[in-house]
Amino acid sequence: MTLFAGPSLVESYLEQIHNSCLVGGEGALADYIPELAGVDPTGFGLSLALHDGYVYSIADADIGFTIQSVSKPLTYALALTHKGFDAVDERIGVEPSGEAFNEISVDSKRRPRNPMINAGAILSASLLLEVEPDVDTAFGELVDFYSACAGRKLVLDEDVYRSEMKSGARNRAIAYMLQSFGVLHAEPEHAIDLYFRQCSVVVTTDDLAVIGGTLANGGVNPRTGRRAVSQSVVQRVLSVMTTCGMYDGAGDWVTTVGLPAKSGVGGGIMAVLPGQLGIGVYSPLLDEHGNSVRGVKACKRLSSDLGLHMFNVARESRVTVRGFYSAHELHITTDRSDSERRYLHGKHDRIRIYELQGDLTFSGTESVLRRLRSSATEFEVAILDLSRVDHVDEVSRSMFVGASQNLRGLQRSAVIVDPDGVVIKRHSHASEPARGAQFVVTTMHEALTRAEDFLLKLAVEEG
Ligand code: DON
Repeated sequence: MTLFAGPSLVESYLEQIHNSCLVGGEGALADYIPELAGVDPTGFGLSLALHDGYVYSIADADIGFTIQSVSKPLTYALALTHKGFDAVDERIGVEPSGEAFNEISVDSKRRPRNPMINAGAILSASLLLEVEPDVDTAFGELVDFYSACAGRKLVLDEDVYRSEMKSGARNRAIAYMLQSFGVLHAEPEHAIDLYFRQCSVVVTTDDLAVIGGTLANGGVNPRTGRRAVSQSVVQRVLSVMTTCGMYDGAGDWVTTVGLPAKSGVGGGIMAVLPGQLGIGVYSPLLDEHGNSVRGVKACKRLSSDLGLHMFNVARESRVTVRGFYSAHELHITTDRSDSERRYLHGKHDRIRIYELQGDLTFSGTESVLRRLRSSATEFEVAILDLSRVDHVDEVSRSMFVGASQNLRGLQRSAVIVDPDGVVIKRHSHASEPARGAQFVVTTMHEALTRAEDFLLKLAVEEG
């Protein structure tokens, strides 16, 4: 559709966020794994997967990188699925350690403190070996599960895997220590082998966003529509990601970003807004905690600019669009001269009404505007009826204004029915154009009048 070949409003927002995080090349590659020391440090991708499976991909969203520690919540999910909560809880805690990811850290029961540090992750991998006959079979099952979450077949990076196997003394030490404490029952070398293989699975930011989207969706992949994991396991995994996912910076992360997340030394970060969306970011330059410097910055900007903090409390409603129809169905009579009436006869299908409901936050507004954009060749005027909307957050408000301005650039118009002033605070002249081509009115009758005025004005302009 040539009319809408350019980037959408949301894509422009994401590009701005991406560009604002490009400045400064701080951080270092994870050179403790020799193979990772050679990756291009400038790669920087960003993806967002919405609950209906739509994915926004910005910049280097197609660069493949190894998943590394972002795999930890997934393997934990698989261990919970196969062994059950009680058996897993006996061997892996759920408390934040406040320590580095590779700390040799256990609690008073000699359990790894949580599944997001290496000790807990190696133990999660070992639990799969208790139910599978060998490492190959366990890895086959594991990669099938990761693939089901990503919605495509994922594969191993053999070079990174071999590199980790050669340089993994510290992780080996952790595995043998856990064996000596009596919590790791599988062969330590096998547990390490499986752990290194899981870290070496190749993903893109699109994959991380869709995996995050699967968790956001309670375990159902938003792309394939298939359940990959149970709701109760997702609840547990998101809880642990919230408290332990970003290591020693967990408190700061929850406060500023407010999204369950997991980082990896490959440069990836996966973040989840439960019920709404998944985020994937990639930039391989890391801070001292092993988190991607630009990835953290991008998550902070995404959260603050798009209002994605999980405690940004809104009355969520999956069905933001309550109704979608043409003005034919309105049965409202406007005050028109005979010639105007003749002109307008049969033209009401050029006016579309979108009835919205609930509280409008980023993801609901995004889906409305995406629908508007994809159907915009079918109308001249869109009437957005917000009579049933209680609250519109800051980002959604500017998205509506931006969308109205975009429509004007395309010789189209938007009229907003907003009796309670939820989008734009009205002044005394309620029906004056608010900004750009946008009209804010209080009744559907006024909206239809404005919409017809626009069609009549177009007719005059077109002669
Ligand atoms: O255990 C390791 O060294 C890696 N394979 C994974 C560590 C990792 O990604 C930590 N996360 N920031």
